[in-house]
Amino acid sequence: MLKITDLHASIEGKEILKGLNLNVKAGEIHAIMGPNGAGKSTLANIIAGKEEYKVTKGKILLETEDIEELAPEERAHKGVFLSFQYPVEIPGVTVTNFMKTAINETRKAQGLEEMPAKDMLKKIREKSELLEIDRKFLSRSLNEGFSGGEKKRNEIFQMAMMEPKLAILDETDSGLDIDALRIVANGVNKLKSDNNAIIVITHYQRLLDYIVPDFVHVLYDGKIVKSGTKDLALELEEKGYDWIKEEINA
Ligand SMILES: Nc1ncnc2c1ncn2[C@@H]1O[C@H](COP(=O)(O)OP(=O)(O)OP(=O)(O)O)[C@@H](O)[C@H]1O
Ligand SMILES: [Mg+2]
Repeated sequence: MLKITDLHASIEGKEILKGLNLNVKAGEIHAIMGPNGAGKSTLANIIAGKEEYKVTKGKILLETEDIEELAPEERAHKGVFLSFQYPVEIPGVTVTNFMKTAINETRKAQGLEEMPAKDMLKKIREKSELLEIDRKFLSRSLNEGFSGGEKKRNEIFQMAMMEPKLAILDETDSGLDIDALRIVANGVNKLKSDNNAIIVITHYQRLLDYIVPDFVHVLYDGKIVKSGTKDLALELEEKGYDWIKEEINA
């Protein structure tokens, strides 16, 4: 689904990613952990195609296609979804209308007609029920005055609506209370299929009790320095990142 080889990237002349490799197959959930400033959000932004970042070396393949030259919208149309660590507010645009537009733009790019209103409503109803989202919430302005948890829940709702091939969730768990965390995780689990892949960036092992990853990676100083199973997250929770530093330097 996603194959990244020897990725080097910089922003404003500063090298952030320093030879990163990652291979994510369809049907898999990967968790990426790592200390603040390691480059996790940078990686997510680069996969999504944010233009501030400069890829200086390496390759990013989505399925078998090199996506390097594609604009963020084109990547989104090909099924790449990125949730935001800091979501934007769009006053005057409701949650529902934002979703309708996003879905229809993608359909248009794929040469499909607009989704009939009846189907759209059905889908909105289905996905909002799945994520236990209140009706009233759907007619609010996007992210305006949303609590931290509401923003995160809305991100997962967007993901559920878009049904991406590759979803990247950047700290979707931060600021969620226990119930919201369970709902969000549950939503992610239900969206998992043999045809998609999910990358979860998180600081907390706790999330991985609910979303069970197939692989856990540690991103440290611009590289993936260690990969393992769910147990690696437990080890990190217990020992922090210092032992990894020692391992690298040894
Ligand atoms: N737009 C930018 N301008 C300047 N520096 C940036 C920019 N974006 C990222 N960086 C720098 O790149 C490094 C990696 O940042 P990044 O946001 O990818 O870290 P992170 O692993 O997501 O950290 P956190 O866990 O705190 O979210 C940091 O030193 C950061 O200051
Ligand atoms: Mg980050």
